[in-house]
Amino acid sequence: MSAPDVFTLPAPYYLFRLLTGSDHMHFGWFRTDDEDPGDAQENMMELNLFFRPGKLETALDVGAGLGATARWLSRRDIAVTSISPDAPLVEYARLAAASDDVKHKVDFQVCKFEEFEPKIQYDWVLFQESFQYFDDVHSTISRARNAVRIGGRLHIGDQFLHVDLPREQGRFHFLPSVLKIAKDLGFELRTKCDVSRAAYRMTGRCLEVLRENKDKWIAEHAAKIPSIEKDVNDMLNCGTLEWDAYVGGHLSYELMAFERVQ
Ligand SMILES: C[S@@+](CC[C@H](N)C(=O)[O-])C[C@H]1O[C@@H](n2cnc3c(N)ncnc32)[C@H](O)[C@@H]1O
Repeated sequence: MSAPDVFTLPAPYYLFRLLTGSDHMHFGWFRTDDEDPGDAQENMMELNLFFRPGKLETALDVGAGLGATARWLSRRDIAVTSISPDAPLVEYARLAAASDDVKHKVDFQVCKFEEFEPKIQYDWVLFQESFQYFDDVHSTISRARNAVRIGGRLHIGDQFLHVDLPREQGRFHFLPSVLKIAKDLGFELRTKCDVSRAAYRMTGRCLEVLRENKDKWIAEHAAKIPSIEKDVNDMLNCGTLEWDAYVGGHLSYELMAFERVQ
């Protein structure tokens, strides 16, 4: 079976892969400033695992990315369903996972979470940097509640705003609103860690790598990806805004574990 081709992925996803060399599409947890971003992403996975529920046999991974989170969990004998509406990403993930020798193969599905009908109630429902993609926090957490068993956990690792901006301006969600909505919907917050200091090194490092490689990547890949110059510039702009917002105290990177108590 041939290896997945990163250039079949839409922007910005193919750029993430070029930036880190890894199939993870989330921030890393950097132990040192010069740590390899792919290793830092693995550290983040280890960190997430500390916040798992006591019994963990099944997990729903909302926002499959390139399948790395789901495959990482499946290597720990967890039966994982992993969903994303982006067919090329799921195709890549399936191909990458094809030869995984695991007890439970990941069930990858092309599906929006808004349309996902869970067949079971999972022990763990994870939004690893996918929560920011949902406009409606109440409906998203309400759906997550239906997908997780009582005593199970909802895990969110993502960037959150500390200013209450309209969705069109903000891209991320206002943290106090998310905490309130989760509580109102019967979730108890078990852990909330602001890991910004170690995580925003990802933005800093990615901006450095983008600037270092911009011209080379454009020269190498423009024939295959005509939009690459625009894609790189969009990512530079986005990353710079994100970095400035973090430095200004308006954004943080949070790991949150909520238990469904009712
Ligand atoms: C930044 S990637 C994170 C991927 C992965 N969780 C990881 O950490 O490597 C965001 C993911 O959210 C997915 N996504 C966006 N909108 C979604 C939706 N409505 N339902 C489910 N997944 C969605 C995207 O397809 C993408 O896979």
